[in-house]
Amino acid sequence: MSEQRKILVTSALPYANGPIHLGHLVEYIQTDIWVRFQKMRGHECHYVCADDTHGTPIMLRAEKEGITPEELIARVHGEHYRDFRGFHVEFDNYDTTHSEETRHYAETIYQRLKERGLIESRAIEQYYDPVKEMFLPDRFIKGECPKCHAQDQYGDSCEACGTTYTPTDLINPYSAVSGAAPVRKESVHYFFKLSDPVCQQFLREWTTGQRTEHPPLQPEAANKMQEWLGSESDNRLSDWDISRDAPYFGFEIPDAPGKYFYVWLDAPIGYMGSFQNLCDNKLTDLTAGDRLIFNDYWSKDSKTELYHFIGKDILYFHALFWPAMLEHSDFRTPTKVFAHGFLTVNGEKMSKSRGTFITADSYLKQGLNPEWLRYYYACKLNGTMEDIDLNLEDFVARVNSDLVGKYVNIAARTANFITKQFDGRLSSFDLNEQERSELDVYNKHVKQDEIDWEANSLEDDYRILPRRLEGGGDKGAIYNPSNMVARFIWARKRIELLYEARDFSKAIRAIQELCDLANQYVATMEPWKLAKQEGQSEKLHEVCTVSLNLFRLLTLYLKPVIPRLAKQAEDFLNIPSLQWSDAEKILSRHSINPYQHLMTRIEPRQIQALVEANKPTLQATEQPEPHSEQRHAEHQQHAIQPIADTIGIEEFGKIDLRIARIVKAEQVEKADKLLKLTLDIGEEQPRTVFAGIKSAYEPAQLEGKLTVMVANLAPRKMKFGLSEGMVLAASDERGGPFVLFPDQGAMPGMRIK
Ligand code: 2FM
Ligand code: ZN
Repeated sequence: MSEQRKILVTSALPYANGPIHLGHLVEYIQTDIWVRFQKMRGHECHYVCADDTHGTPIMLRAEKEGITPEELIARVHGEHYRDFRGFHVEFDNYDTTHSEETRHYAETIYQRLKERGLIESRAIEQYYDPVKEMFLPDRFIKGECPKCHAQDQYGDSCEACGTTYTPTDLINPYSAVSGAAPVRKESVHYFFKLSDPVCQQFLREWTTGQRTEHPPLQPEAANKMQEWLGSESDNRLSDWDISRDAPYFGFEIPDAPGKYFYVWLDAPIGYMGSFQNLCDNKLTDLTAGDRLIFNDYWSKDSKTELYHFIGKDILYFHALFWPAMLEHSDFRTPTKVFAHGFLTVNGEKMSKSRGTFITADSYLKQGLNPEWLRYYYACKLNGTMEDIDLNLEDFVARVNSDLVGKYVNIAARTANFITKQFDGRLSSFDLNEQERSELDVYNKHVKQDEIDWEANSLEDDYRILPRRLEGGGDKGAIYNPSNMVARFIWARKRIELLYEARDFSKAIRAIQELCDLANQYVATMEPWKLAKQEGQSEKLHEVCTVSLNLFRLLTLYLKPVIPRLAKQAEDFLNIPSLQWSDAEKILSRHSINPYQHLMTRIEPRQIQALVEANKPTLQATEQPEPHSEQRHAEHQQHAIQPIADTIGIEEFGKIDLRIARIVKAEQVEKADKLLKLTLDIGEEQPRTVFAGIKSAYEPAQLEGKLTVMVANLAPRKMKFGLSEGMVLAASDERGGPFVLFPDQGAMPGMRIK
């Protein structure tokens, strides 16, 4: 391996007042893939994040819910963390900005900027809500658009005609908090003096890469910065207002009672806070030599790498304010800021009414596999600031045809022969000498600048070894197993460079080319025919061994994208966790485990159900309070007809309802409606239950999930075996069955009452 790098990576901190949705996940999945790739290469890489917890919206939201901001941010933290984990985003630390660590660095940076004469205070006039007794951020002032006269527009822009303006331009402004007409009021604010020539000079040099070994910004981002900065004679950067008046949820400024740091000041400092917290937590379980030291990563002379993954909408903060803050308070600046574009769904902005504002939680609750989305995003991401589109039809098609139809299929079509005919053991196999020595040459000589970055095809790599394309040629390769496997190993370097450059779409394309080649090999060799022919046993053994070696290499290359599927594949191949340097470890005379289906296809109806689930319900849309007659009518409409006689609590108590884990779900031969479930309710022996849910569920969708079972139902002898209880599901003429899944935190065996 090349020298071990020390890398710290962050994703933008999500606000603690809303759920994680598929738009957010573009960034977290992008970052997670990159981090997993760096870790697989053996680099020391840390991935930290946190909830962004301060500011007026969070304070008001908590108030509306009748809880404290601390309670709100604690709850949302749990939800965010659960959602990220659900999508296999593996942070080394997921913290909160409302922490002592973040407070400490916010105060330190502020003090140092002050010592440098870069903080200034002056009185400014702002809109103030006289009823609520608070200053109003632009978003909390509404009124009539000065241009098109649409009513109820926000203080910064009109949603009807798109005009942007300041709140003072609004006609008949009112406070969105109390409805009162705002008044103008003066107050002292603190400013970071970005207009100071020292800051200007620094930012001009930093954004154009004159201060660092490599340019810290993507070319399109660097251009944008020059626009924002202006030139020396036309300085467009003004001072940045970093304080807010009480009431505000945030950190009070040490020497300014009643004044708080503006949320955007402490948000990026949250990266430092979260990392400090990680260092402190690691301290206890590491020997001195392995200790993670804050200053190794953040001191001015740090030799480590620091990368921020962000959306293009927050470039301003990360490419101007943040490096200026760090530079002038004697910390290091980021190595690179990686900005990505926005997510569109079916070519349009995500929309609540169309059901395309899809939350992470609903995606998982609908039983969709998170790795389908990870794979699809990887197919689309290319390291630029272009927007990416989640086309739902294409999503189904790509996952089904590429991931399941091509990658998984290689193992599915060959593994059983090994298990049934060769006692689970692969044949002896190795690269021939020529391939070995050429591979050595390749490994020695392949360097970044020898790869054609614009090349769309893997074949371009072989220009490094021109002989490859002569003689045997492309077709010949599939008749030469050693050559096939060697090709797959050579591809590693190219895929590595593409991952490093965050050009995941090209990496996936390169991997898919390999998948095609592997499938072509299987299709040409027809192991299913060899299995039936006399005297072809050895050939069959070789074909399956080669195929599974190819499958292993594909798993290695796809692992940063689909870590859970890769783990299942590793278990099936009976190999330790794959590392990037493992490409050349050929499987020979190696025992594998019996193949179990690795991934199901997406059913289009699952996507329909997901979109439906994300459409706003009547109750969820914010409607004005209906008149009493209307309310009565609604009540009538929604009244539920009684369906059974009333019972007392004692009677209900006779039903022993328990949380059960579905340890296994299987098809039942010859049964039209039933699935066989093995349920763990904390007893010594699991229970078997036959459930009439086959029409709605694939077994793989159920395995590992929790559900609800009636544990004291008398066992019933059925044609297929004994059923020892019942799982609960809902259905009527509108659809179903829908199996019940309990909320997070429930454990097998818990009583439901
Ligand atoms: O735009 C946002 O969602 C912010 N909460 C991002 C903050 S990123 C960092 F600076 F903390
Ligand atoms: Zn307008």
